[in-house]
Amino acid sequence: MAIREIRVEGDEILTKHCKEVKVFDKKLHTLLDDMYETMKKAGGVGLAAPQVGVLKRAVVIDVGEGLIELVNPQIIDEQGTQEGSEGCLSVPGVYGIVERPNVVTVRAQDRDGKWFKITGRELTARAMCHEVEHLEGILFREHVTEYCEAE
Ligand code: NI
Repeated sequence: MAIREIRVEGDEILTKHCKEVKVFDKKLHTLLDDMYETMKKAGGVGLAAPQVGVLKRAVVIDVGEGLIELVNPQIIDEQGTQEGSEGCLSVPGVYGIVERPNVVTVRAQDRDGKWFKITGRELTARAMCHEVEHLEGILFREHVTEYCEAE
């Protein structure tokens, strides 16, 4: 595994639409492993492939309840709302209040291409929405209603 460079706001790659993953090979596994290690070292709870410069639809999330890997994720259900502070490893030092659904169900493929569904609540739901949006080139700033000091 290796730490990869995290791209920061202003880098054009963060504004791009990411491509569907079609090949579930060792290269993808290495990417996911590196993304996890990079996220952990940076102290984040989620990371999307474009944040390490790769325009592929792959995401890792770990809010402290174990690693979730989502390849080609699609949000298929949203319930309720939550309002809370949010940040992003690509927008260092900036936090803002963002409203998100409180419960989110995602359909995705695992690292070997097998489809599954997963439901996340609260911080996990927030991370799912935030990371899936990275795959469309959207940063959380677009949703911030008010900036705040820290998370
Ligand atoms: Ni982010």
